[in-house]
Amino acid sequence: MQSTYDLLVVGSGIAGLYTAIRAKEKGANVLLITKGGIEEATTKWAQGGIAAAVGASDSIESHLKDTVDAGAGLVDIDAAKILVEGAPERIDDLIRYGVRFDRSDGFIQLGREAAHSAPRILHARGDQTGLEIELSLSSLAQESGITILEHTLVRELQLNGQDVVGAEVLSTKSGNKTLYGASKIVLATGGAGQMYSVTTNPEVSTGDGVALAYMAGAEIMDMEFTQFHPTALCIKNAPTFLISEALRGEGALLFNSNGKRYMPEYHSRAELAPRDIVSRSTLMEMKDTADDHVLLDVTSHNVEFLQARFPNIYKTCMEYGIDISKDRIPVAPAAHYTMGGIRTNTWGETSLNNLFAVGEVACTGVHGANRLASNSLLETVIFASRTIEHIFSDQNFENFKNTVDDELYSLDSNSRTGKIPNMETVQELMWDYVGLERTGDSLDYAVKQLTDLRSYAELRNDRKSIELNAILICGSLAAHAAYYRRESRGAHYRADYPEIDENWQKHIVFKHKI
Ligand code: SIN
Repeated sequence: MQSTYDLLVVGSGIAGLYTAIRAKEKGANVLLITKGGIEEATTKWAQGGIAAAVGASDSIESHLKDTVDAGAGLVDIDAAKILVEGAPERIDDLIRYGVRFDRSDGFIQLGREAAHSAPRILHARGDQTGLEIELSLSSLAQESGITILEHTLVRELQLNGQDVVGAEVLSTKSGNKTLYGASKIVLATGGAGQMYSVTTNPEVSTGDGVALAYMAGAEIMDMEFTQFHPTALCIKNAPTFLISEALRGEGALLFNSNGKRYMPEYHSRAELAPRDIVSRSTLMEMKDTADDHVLLDVTSHNVEFLQARFPNIYKTCMEYGIDISKDRIPVAPAAHYTMGGIRTNTWGETSLNNLFAVGEVACTGVHGANRLASNSLLETVIFASRTIEHIFSDQNFENFKNTVDDELYSLDSNSRTGKIPNMETVQELMWDYVGLERTGDSLDYAVKQLTDLRSYAELRNDRKSIELNAILICGSLAAHAAYYRRESRGAHYRADYPEIDENWQKHIVFKHKI
């Protein structure tokens, strides 16, 4: 071992930075490693904000109800209560760490997003909440004596029986491999949006943590539930760019390319219906009109308001010749958030000793089958705080319970038909066959293809092959789980089983046979 730390944190989005800062406050010897530069994380791209029932007309009960309703029967109620009740304290942490939320007359402004029954989204820099959080926490982490290794990724977790004892890491600059020992490891590597060819996620979101944990034997849950955001900018040859739901919260309306406003026909909340419903309705309208996009209209607001409230969206659209104060914005659904991940309890524990998971990489159960908008940044700080409390406390906490009532599977890998994998092939396969709308046939095809491609993937000593390997594992877990789940629920829509089935009110869990 090169050196041994009290805590090794993997990832430098809000989950990794907040965890590392809290651990450092406890006097721990912390190593944080991140595969890109410290500020390269999905957090930076979060636009909407962070949900918290702190408004005068709001309540914890209402936030809980909205979270549970959105999750379509699979939300862990105890975890969701912890989520909504802890919000004010964790918001205070972020403010203490330097995050400046937008205010008017000294009061924090609260935005509205779909499926929330009250305005409760705290935002910063207008539509750049993630950027404000990432910059504040990364500068604090750098000042606070945490050892930070950039351009470094974990190749494998080191095990001693059921205990995680360290990690083999690879410098993507020098190609050198090093073993680090750690009393505890927190995976905070973010989601797996890069499974899909169309995604709002940055390039770093390749599901690395899920793949590492799965290969080490940890339980992985709910991978069939990827959230597709209904409104990503859709312009030929332009990168997929999120057009925040907060625009619809401010009254933006959706029209199909024939000029018809369609959402009132699909849901009583129209444009503010739960995200899965807006995404699927949008897909149906795109099919009906044989077009690759619909149109979002926010022209009821004047230019001054839009520039102040949505500066980044305003600027980015303008770069493509769209003046959002005058023009409708071409948008289409894109993969956005991985609800599934490494199964944890409410103290961040995974099924492996000494291994914890926090943020999008974790599956705490608070999102169920469909995450309520802007609950993800909140989930991260709530459960990161509890993880640190658990790790650095002498008290007895309830330990992780292995899966009993849920469906337990593992992936197998046997056929080799000669197709060598590459990232684009996998992403297109996932988009076409494990996308917003799936069928038994499409999933059967995807499962077979992915099993074959996975058998050729090799864990070599370069970032690309490690990321491809991770995407193949995450994609396989997602495709298998979606194939097994013969119903439609939340973000998982099976055209051959379009109804919810109470027999499926349970989770699909994977565990690799080692
Ligand atoms: C958005 O700004 O529309 C995304 C918010 C979220 O995913 O929670």
